[in-house]
Amino acid sequence: MKKWKRSHTCGDLTKSAAGTEVTLLGWVDTRRDHGGLIFVDLRDRYGKTQIVFNPADQKQSSSKDFRSEYVVAVTGKVRVRPEGMSNTKMATGEIEVEAIECEVLSQAKTTPFQLDDDNVSEVLRLKYRYLDLRRDRMHKNLQLRHKLITGLRSALNENDFLEIETPILYKSTPEGARDYLVPSRVHPGSFYALPQSPQTLKQLLMVAGYDKYYQVARCFRDEDLRAERQPEFTQLDIEMSFVDVEDIMALNEKLIKKVWKDLRGYEIGEIPVMTYDEAMNTYGNDKPDTRFGLKFTDLTESLKDSGFKVFDDVSSRGGAIKGFAILGGATISRGAIDKYTELVKRSGAKGLVWIKWENDKVGSAVAKFFPEEKLKELVSACGGKQGDAAFIVADDWNITCAALAALRLQVGEELKLIDTSKDSFLWVVDFPLFDYSAEDKRWVAMHHPFTMMKEEHADILISGREEDYGKIRAKAYDLVCNGYEIAGGSIRIFRNEVQSAMFKALKISPEEAEKKFGYFLEALNYGTPPHGGIAWGLDRVAMILCNTEAIRDVIAFPKTSKATCMMSEAPTQVDRSQLLELGISLLRGPDKNL
Ligand code: AMO
Ligand code: AMP
Repeated sequence: MKKWKRSHTCGDLTKSAAGTEVTLLGWVDTRRDHGGLIFVDLRDRYGKTQIVFNPADQKQSSSKDFRSEYVVAVTGKVRVRPEGMSNTKMATGEIEVEAIECEVLSQAKTTPFQLDDDNVSEVLRLKYRYLDLRRDRMHKNLQLRHKLITGLRSALNENDFLEIETPILYKSTPEGARDYLVPSRVHPGSFYALPQSPQTLKQLLMVAGYDKYYQVARCFRDEDLRAERQPEFTQLDIEMSFVDVEDIMALNEKLIKKVWKDLRGYEIGEIPVMTYDEAMNTYGNDKPDTRFGLKFTDLTESLKDSGFKVFDDVSSRGGAIKGFAILGGATISRGAIDKYTELVKRSGAKGLVWIKWENDKVGSAVAKFFPEEKLKELVSACGGKQGDAAFIVADDWNITCAALAALRLQVGEELKLIDTSKDSFLWVVDFPLFDYSAEDKRWVAMHHPFTMMKEEHADILISGREEDYGKIRAKAYDLVCNGYEIAGGSIRIFRNEVQSAMFKALKISPEEAEKKFGYFLEALNYGTPPHGGIAWGLDRVAMILCNTEAIRDVIAFPKTSKATCMMSEAPTQVDRSQLLELGISLLRGPDKNL
């Protein structure tokens, strides 16, 4: 085989190169036979170049054997395409290369799918990911992801941040998911936990005086997967000392604006700020998609003692009645309403009240309980008028919010109310510090156990007033874009006694706290600066930038929703000898008789 040296990529050549001799190496994208000449589009990650072969020429005879996806080398002369033959869709469309000599470097089996077929099953795409990644769209996605990360790195570097790596083999860092555990051969029976995030480690870097830290950090979480979740994903993890909420928000707002300016090509303007309570009450969701309206109106007060048992029961037990109007919704069909009713029921609601104000006539599920004027009044209260419809749910506050939020998204999508021409950002702040877990009958940290409460609520935590824990608001913030939580963080507890009070509130005993976080609590005793930070879900940001709704489209080798790798079939069973070495015997699975 001749030693070929690439002189140009397949995306380089333009008219100005006409007459020069070049050497290109790449994949055969398409091949067309034309009366003795063979036209090949040669492809690499930079583009495609048309090559014209004359197989009758002995030095080019191998071109007869070319098939799709063969890797070939060619030397030839660049020439301007004849009049009328240029292809304006290709960057190299004005030229072609007239081959002089060529060789097949490597053959390819027939690929299991056509690379230009957009309807390939994802199972097949993931099994042959290296072929899927050859597609133009995937090249573009990974390139954009690369630009996103390098852009953020350089912006942070310019601002005196240090990128510091933290261990992957570590100890549990709770972020609300299960840990992935790694057994230790040297210490049989002991396990490392892969970090759910570098949370405690970055805080220890603050104790150590590295006041501006960042890391492009891989995180591992064993949790139920969704379209925007992977078991291992990448955060842009940031921590700073001597800062408060507004400093972290200002820095990150600057960063996201730069990203959008550089990669989306427009200014996103000032990002609105909304409290958690306001977001929940208005959109039923702490990460609302604000590209469309359908905002909720609280009707609890105006429907008190209405005479309709459902509403009266809910308001007397302290629940919430909320609704929203749909402009032009009076024409929504009964079939659609039945579907919407099923949808809210899946979120736990018992039913859906609908009101349609057509011409002067009002139709409603509750027509027999309310005079027509009251029904019109309810539509008006929700912001509607004649020609519109209103949907109302009554239940416990959280169920009403969840059910109407699901309905809002469905209606928004179905009626095409979402303005996809611009991305919509929102800061959500003042999250509750705790969330009550009815299942475990205890309070759990809404963000994570290292989050600081707002000063005015400090007393509730310190004095352990459990009945008021639900009122405590945290110095925590999320950045939301188009209904995705793209970043989240908080100001941290930096005093040992407050951290201990937090663990106590979470029903973590001092012994357990010592066992899990003793090293961390000890560190807080050696001069800890006030600090706080945030972490971006880089995969999610990349997803939005690449206009896709699947996080797998922006990760080179992603896992399925069952946390498996279709290509390598990981996770796989291991040899008995490996288990023996680790001192592990299986209770479940094929090797349980170890
Ligand atoms: P949090 O758990 O909110 O905070 O994570 C930060 C961001 O990471 C992204 N994210 C995910 N992306 C893909 N797949 C997942 N399974 C997944 N889980 C989370 C989200 C989220 O906003 N240590 C804290 C940050 C801090 O307080 O500084 C943390 O990890 O976009
Ligand atoms: P009923 O009198 O039980 O048939 O209910 C009349 C209407 O109220 C039906 O359309 C139900 O879907 C609706 N409905 C029942 N419970 C609720 C609720 N908790 N919130 C909203 N609508 C409800």
